[in-house]
Amino acid sequence: MSFQKNLITRRDFLRDSARAGTSVWAAELALKSSVLQASLAVPAGEGALKAAIAVDAGTVLHHIDPNIYGSFTEHIGRIIYGGVYEEGSQLSDEQGFRKDVLNAAREWGVPVLRWPGGDFVSGYHWEDGIGPKESRPRRYNAAWYEEESNHFGTDEFIEYCRKIGAEPYICVNLGTGTIEEAANWVEYCNGTGNTFYANLRRKYGHQDPYKVRYWGLGNEVYGDWQIGHKNAEDYAKIALECGKMMKWVDPSIRLVACGLPEIEWNRVVLEKLINIADYISLHDYEGNEDYYEELGTIQRLEHNIRLTAAAIDLTDSLRGKPTALAFSLPEVNSKKPIQIACDEWNIWYRKHDLFRRDIPNPVEEKYNLRDALWIASGLNLFQRMGDRVTMANLAQMINSIGAIFTNERGMFLQTIYFPMKLYRRECGSQALACKVESPTFSSKSFKDVPYLDASATLDAERKKLAVTVVNRHKSQPIGAILKIGNAKVGSKATLFEINGASPEIENSFSELENVKIVEKGFSEAGEKFGYVFPAHSITLLKLSVT
Ligand code: AHR
Repeated sequence: MSFQKNLITRRDFLRDSARAGTSVWAAELALKSSVLQASLAVPAGEGALKAAIAVDAGTVLHHIDPNIYGSFTEHIGRIIYGGVYEEGSQLSDEQGFRKDVLNAAREWGVPVLRWPGGDFVSGYHWEDGIGPKESRPRRYNAAWYEEESNHFGTDEFIEYCRKIGAEPYICVNLGTGTIEEAANWVEYCNGTGNTFYANLRRKYGHQDPYKVRYWGLGNEVYGDWQIGHKNAEDYAKIALECGKMMKWVDPSIRLVACGLPEIEWNRVVLEKLINIADYISLHDYEGNEDYYEELGTIQRLEHNIRLTAAAIDLTDSLRGKPTALAFSLPEVNSKKPIQIACDEWNIWYRKHDLFRRDIPNPVEEKYNLRDALWIASGLNLFQRMGDRVTMANLAQMINSIGAIFTNERGMFLQTIYFPMKLYRRECGSQALACKVESPTFSSKSFKDVPYLDASATLDAERKKLAVTVVNRHKSQPIGAILKIGNAKVGSKATLFEINGASPEIENSFSELENVKIVEKGFSEAGEKFGYVFPAHSITLLKLSVT
């Protein structure tokens, strides 16, 4: 097998999009591989729905950053207290971390964990959360109308990340915080010298620097629901000064600027931060009671990523250039274009009583199989667009809009947990050219959405090719011909399926496994084979290739 790199450049992509006059995604793959062109022929037959999937194992489109399978824990409701951390519980370890949740996070393999917010961070002063717990101030969490004990702070967060094997990603306070406070936080975490905050970390028992690599420059600063929200110009000004000082403390850190899927906000922010930021963020929450309307919203997520990418392209010529607008910092200038961090994404529409003070934990959403299909479609999208999206954080990990759900006696895994774990565990790090021909659906707001959605990845070292397929049809299986070009494919494969009795089905404390990952053997794989994808299912076919 020739796993030769055949990277599609941005220029090729734009030229082909224009020439093809077709959907951008189709154009992305058009003309790239004779394998793809020659092999797609929807199988004939009566009645049943038919599709075709063609993968070119010789065309590696881009690297997939494992950070796209990340998550987020904010100080809301029972995410931290009662989720991550529960002092005095029999379910917790000696440090107060819930052991059942730790195991679930480890099994998922969360690669990167964002903290402490979210809206919470815009009123958070990190020094409240260090030192002896009994001396930490109890504060009002104005973002979520709650009380904050500060018993879980920076040292506990880092310890938690170490325990689950995740890279910490800290977002700083650009609501009520100062640039100096943010730079001091970097010094506390990463400082190696004989300076106050590095010594404070040592004093509290942490000799070695934490080497926190990822730092966010504020959260959703554009919205009036945010403590200390700002317009684009004001945000860009403070974020530039803040990022500059943070990178002067530790030039190795990677900064995430606060983005909005809107060209104007992102343009203003990127023009200022182009030589400081490494990522721009995108938040996307979707959901709808109507089955096809909800699954159709995947088109909006794709559109939002493309809008963000367009703003990056628009400002990219300023990269590395000291201009009036872009402060130049030669020693830390990024050589790479700004990346996209989808650092909050999920289904969220049922429990949205954000401004209700009379309901405890008002954002504890229960997820069904339909929501898991949407999450798997999102992961397919991130894999396909992995040249632009190099971090994504499912919001959130536990309880409030969480993939894991606890009470004082135990926990269960919500439906959306399973695609996160499956993709993180089984997909390779190289995105392959993969083309799908499928019948489509339309909903009230979205047109021509393919029922069958796929992505293909390669783990070249282990010689494994994973095809991840979501059948979004509500009631019908879809028979597909799969063709794998430029590789010899062994007949024995492993097949993982996530499905359940109906799209509405949920897991609960009493029904833990209505939806789960089922592993099956499959011995009919090859360079060309057929498979019937069940209605409302997620399938990962793991093929051996040489
Ligand atoms: O994830 C919940 C909230 O959603 C976050 O605090 C905020 O950033 C977003 O609006």
